[in-house]
Amino acid sequence: MRDLLIEELRDSAFEHHLEETRRHVSRLDSIFKQIDEKSSGETCEAMKGLVKEGEIFIKAEGDPDVRDAGLIGAAQRVEHYEMAGYGTARALARRLGDNQMAEILQQTLNEEGEANKKLTSIAESQVNVAADSKVR
Ligand SMILES: [Fe+2]
Repeated sequence: MRDLLIEELRDSAFEHHLEETRRHVSRLDSIFKQIDEKSSGETCEAMKGLVKEGEIFIKAEGDPDVRDAGLIGAAQRVEHYEMAGYGTARALARRLGDNQMAEILQQTLNEEGEANKKLTSIAESQVNVAADSKVR
C-alpha cells in the first residue's frame, strides 16, 4: 500500500508537474523575449522559503505517512503561490490588451491549478487517511 502511495505521489504528482514546470519556464522565456526583457536575474525569496519548508519535510524523521502529508501541504503552498503570480500576470496582460499573452499565462495557471487538485486528491484519498491512523 505504502509503495503504491509513494509511486503515485512521486510519478503522478511531482514528476508530472516537474515536466509541466519546465514548459512553464519555456513559456515565460518566450513571453519575456516577446517584450524584449530578460527572464532571469531576480531571486524570489518567498519561493525560496516555501521550497525550504518542503525540504524540511523531506528530511524529517518520524512516520513516513505523516511526513508525506506535510510534504503535500508544503507543495500545495508552492502551487498556490504560483497561481497567485500567474493570475496576476494574466490579469495585467489582459489589461494591456495582449490576449495572446494572457492565454499563455492562463494555460499555465490552469496547469498549476490541476497540480494542486491532484495533490488534494492524493492527500484526501490516501495520505491524510494513512497519516491520521498513525496519530490517533
Ligand atoms: Fe507548480
